[in-house]
Amino acid sequence: MNILDSLINPPTTEHIALLNIIQVIAFLMFLPFIGMLFGGTILSVYFNSKYRRTKDPLFLKFSKDIIDRLTFSRNLGWGMGILPVFTITVIYAQFLYGAKVISVGLFLLSTLLYITSFVFIYNYKNTFHIENVFKAFKAFTNNDSSSLPSEVREFEKNILKSNVRYGNFGMWLLIIASFLFVGSYTIASDPGSWESNNGLMSVFLNGQIWLNFFYFVSASFAISGGAILYLFFIWQGGIKDMDDKYKSLSQKTGIYIALIASLVQPLFLILNFINEPQGGLTGSNFFLTGISIVSILLVCNFLYAALRNSEIKYASPAFFLIFLTFIFSVIQQQMAFGNSIKPHLYTVTQKAEELKKEIEGKTISTTGVDPEAIYNTKCIACHKFDVKLVGPPYQETVPKYAGDVKKLSEFIYNPQKINPAFPPMPNQGLKQKEADAMAQWLIKKVSGK
Ligand code: HEC
Repeated sequence: MNILDSLINPPTTEHIALLNIIQVIAFLMFLPFIGMLFGGTILSVYFNSKYRRTKDPLFLKFSKDIIDRLTFSRNLGWGMGILPVFTITVIYAQFLYGAKVISVGLFLLSTLLYITSFVFIYNYKNTFHIENVFKAFKAFTNNDSSSLPSEVREFEKNILKSNVRYGNFGMWLLIIASFLFVGSYTIASDPGSWESNNGLMSVFLNGQIWLNFFYFVSASFAISGGAILYLFFIWQGGIKDMDDKYKSLSQKTGIYIALIASLVQPLFLILNFINEPQGGLTGSNFFLTGISIVSILLVCNFLYAALRNSEIKYASPAFFLIFLTFIFSVIQQQMAFGNSIKPHLYTVTQKAEELKKEIEGKTISTTGVDPEAIYNTKCIACHKFDVKLVGPPYQETVPKYAGDVKKLSEFIYNPQKINPAFPPMPNQGLKQKEADAMAQWLIKKVSGK
């Protein structure tokens, strides 16, 4: 069921063209950003727990730097993450107007989960900063924690605990939100599956959704690995306080993650292409899948060069190509969606036209019609206002309508036999708009206002 249907009007054809553009832009903002957040959060949580196990501060710093650099600022997070996903939800609600499909409900649910996960993730990020404050503070006491007041020590313990908890919650919520998000657009793209995917259970059992989700995961890790290389080493001169050990850890991790994640992507792209729902297969779709695969292979090439020669300069083209691949796959996904949903959109726009007519029927437009001229050419032979001619005088008949323009216009548009004392009025062949204007004019004239 579409929860939003009651709030939303079916879009017209021109409206749909515009919605398509907005939607592609929203996806282009959302997917790369959420991909970095997704991969970044999972990696950060992973290295954080590795630190808790090994007590090697190298991992803690890495964990903190990843979340710091890959999630950007909280405001940017809301702008690049939540705003687009909400926009996408509203647009899908319009595309899927009147359809029995759970996608819109799922989008809404995933938006809510994204919002909650963002709250946790940005708190996770903040607790790192508070931990740093503690560290600086303790340096003054020569790292002798016992000299600190017990409240302070208690507080520090709590912060450490919430750091781990926030990270875990944020990560799992983000994973579930992303799965539902991928599920919603996967179902929406395949009208044949709308009926059978009628509950959360069927979403979790849907192979196509898992396939798309794994593609999303691999693309997210590819872009996160690329982002680690680019944001740690190149962008604004990279991170300043890196020793050799740290450099090698972050460089290796970045390269391996981006490389492995890129290597598996062509597989998903090909499987996806084969599985494309009926109507989604077109020449341009074929072309975009091809170009995505070429771009991924180039990425692998650059990453391999970076690994072989330990030359970080190859990270830049790799990162931007990963980005480009994201863009290709978004456009491809949207085109496939647009194609497969065409029959449904046809009924939606029909519905919109009907509604439009209904609204126009209620609010009369009389622009470009001159009722007085019509009276003088078409009615005057049989009607005067005060004297009976062939037909009755308007002053006797029009007041009956008590100002109901619609009803009077119906009679003028298609006259019915009314008064036995008169012959029937022949149809004057007016257009609806002209009949409306006549009715309005007559009522006004007779009432003398
Ligand atoms: C050929 C003669 C003729 C022409 C032309 C004609 N009418 Fe009539 N009209 C009649 C007759 C006869 C009646 C009475 C019909 C009846 O009562 O069944 C009538 C009735 C009416 C009524 C009263 C309906 C009622 O509910 O009693 C209106 C209003 C009216 N005409 C409007 C117009 C308008 C507006 C035009 C010009 C666009 C027009 N007529 C042109 C012959 C004509």
